[in-house]
Amino acid sequence: MELKEAIETRRSIRKYKNEEVSNELILEILKEATHAPSGHNIQPWRFKLLEKDEKNLIADKLSNKFINDKLHSAHNTADIIRNCSKLVMVFNEEAGNDFARDINILSIGGIIDEILLLATEKGLGTLWIANTNNIKDEIKDTLNVDLEPISCIAFGYKDQDPNKRPRRDFEDIIIK
Ligand SMILES: Cc1cc2nc3c(=O)[nH]c(=O)nc-3n(C[C@H](O)[C@H](O)[C@H](O)COP(=O)(O)O)c2cc1C
Repeated sequence: MELKEAIETRRSIRKYKNEEVSNELILEILKEATHAPSGHNIQPWRFKLLEKDEKNLIADKLSNKFINDKLHSAHNTADIIRNCSKLVMVFNEEAGNDFARDINILSIGGIIDEILLLATEKGLGTLWIANTNNIKDEIKDTLNVDLEPISCIAFGYKDQDPNKRPRRDFEDIIIK
């Protein structure tokens, strides 16, 4: 698959088959993605691969946080975390000041997109999840990792074929 095809065919997948994605395949993708650029070449990203029990603990913490707000999209995200095969939690290395933090976050956004495209190329479905940023402290405690959780990525074999979500007209995003 060419890069262009991966970019055009990638979709956010929210329904996965009950089929395991191997840890080896996910680790291979993460390793390939580390060719991504990063500000000052700091490479601030850290990854923790979560399997069934641990990922479901994260899903439960997310649902519990919004127990009084049943309509919050976090509940859908929590169900997706339960349904996916594996979850990769992405952490940000400690930054010294706001500028350094900005650079780290930009760099992490970049590598996450590369991960999604590499996964698409390998036939996997993914979902970039930031709803978990509502429970940063709970994630740190649950996983015993003293770094800032920035996003997580759900992986699985897709059990849906979503239509492409609309994009803004190109003319509207080019400032003249
Ligand atoms: C930074 C970021 C955070 C996201 N967080 C969530 C999330 O928490 N839950 C979810 O269901 N989708 C999440 N998404 C997926 C977006 O909803 C999705 O990318 C967008 O609707 C476009 O659809 P597409 O990815 O299929 O092109 C997130 C996407 C990005 C880039």
